[in-house]
Amino acid sequence: MAGVIIVGAQWGDEGKGKVVDIYTDEADYIVRYAGGPNAGHTLVVDGQKCVVRLVPSGILRRDAICVLGQGTVVDPKVLVGELETLEAKGLAPRERMRVAERAHVILSYHILVDGLREATASAIGTTKRGVGPCYEDKAARRGIRLRDFRSRADLTARVAKAIEAWSPVIVALGGQVPSVEAVVDDAWAAGQSLLPLLADTAALTEVALRDRKRVLFEGAQGTLLDVDHGTYPFVTSSSAIAGGACTGVGIGPSRIDSVVGLAKAYCTRVGGGPFPTELEGPVADRIRTVGAEFGSVTGRPRRVGWVDLPALRYAVRLNGLDSIALTKLDVLAGLETIRACVAYDTPEGRTRDFPADDLASCTPVYADFPGFSQDVSNARALSELPKEALDFVRFVEIEVGCPLSIVSVGPGRDQTIVLSHPLRDA
Ligand code: IMP
Repeated sequence: MAGVIIVGAQWGDEGKGKVVDIYTDEADYIVRYAGGPNAGHTLVVDGQKCVVRLVPSGILRRDAICVLGQGTVVDPKVLVGELETLEAKGLAPRERMRVAERAHVILSYHILVDGLREATASAIGTTKRGVGPCYEDKAARRGIRLRDFRSRADLTARVAKAIEAWSPVIVALGGQVPSVEAVVDDAWAAGQSLLPLLADTAALTEVALRDRKRVLFEGAQGTLLDVDHGTYPFVTSSSAIAGGACTGVGIGPSRIDSVVGLAKAYCTRVGGGPFPTELEGPVADRIRTVGAEFGSVTGRPRRVGWVDLPALRYAVRLNGLDSIALTKLDVLAGLETIRACVAYDTPEGRTRDFPADDLASCTPVYADFPGFSQDVSNARALSELPKEALDFVRFVEIEVGCPLSIVSVGPGRDQTIVLSHPLRDA
């Protein structure tokens, strides 16, 4: 049995696509457990880029099975659009995609409400893909699941109840309540086209693990956006942490062999919310440009800051991380000084813990490191890094108390220092 979780250890966008791609070589199954079309990763097919939001990146490996677990929320039109794009590029994604029949469905009114709320003063900077309202419906026990597309009459009845519940909200936000028929019509064809892919993905994953298949559980967003443990209320609406893999897929914790956390050598955040190590000015602009820090779903410029080690320690603890894949070290090349937040000064004194709920009253305490000017993208072993870069990397590793499994030194697949390989070693 080999079940390995890959989870974002910061605010998302830690370079999951590349690391998942490296591990996928050894994976028989790639299973997404949370989130929806708010995530996004860029696939390169025959030299051409395409951004997918729901289909796992493992779809490019021609023999891996890709699964969307029931903890994810699926916009049928988005998923069908992605499958068609991949088909047009000569892939046969439908043969290798399985989607949880119990996954909840994003419909047009979810997107409408998300957008209307984001136009008000209580906006938090969501991706406006309807993700939050869909999870709200799930918790309120009036959600629509993909299996409901098997009967138009049942689907229509369920949509009618949901619209009834949302109508006062839509009206209060100044929107126009859509008709039940319009909502069903809008999603019906896409929903029908997904029916052949539906499966009991919890059972399928358990059987795969028992058959000693290698299963990679791919998280979405990041630890600090987790609905329970993130910087609430500036969070997404699902369980982004590693524990979410068990509830989101429907497998027991004993099935997990290893958890890998992804962290950039600096930090980014998209949308609103506290970000104590945030930078502004030329250093931020440089990191943003060199690191191509623009949202792959929304195109928004990402907020940029120094690496936050109390936050990383928090992620190590919450996720039970066995190792960290440190990404984008190359982006820091050329900076005169590199900083790392090592602690926080709080009204109660200095702490090495992450004060997730009281960040506004805390000041980061930094350690400064001399920068490195050399291009590190050709390094394939830690010993090939300039001394300054290696000192910084080792400091991070020791300070957070978790070994590194990967140091990524460039966007290319081969631009990677691989120190251990959880799937191969499992
Ligand atoms: P939602 O998930 O669209 O509801 O957005 C809630 C918060 O999570 C916002 O701050 C988003 O910017 C953030 N978010 C959602 N998905 C991602 C992601 O894939 N990367 C980074 N931030 C994300």
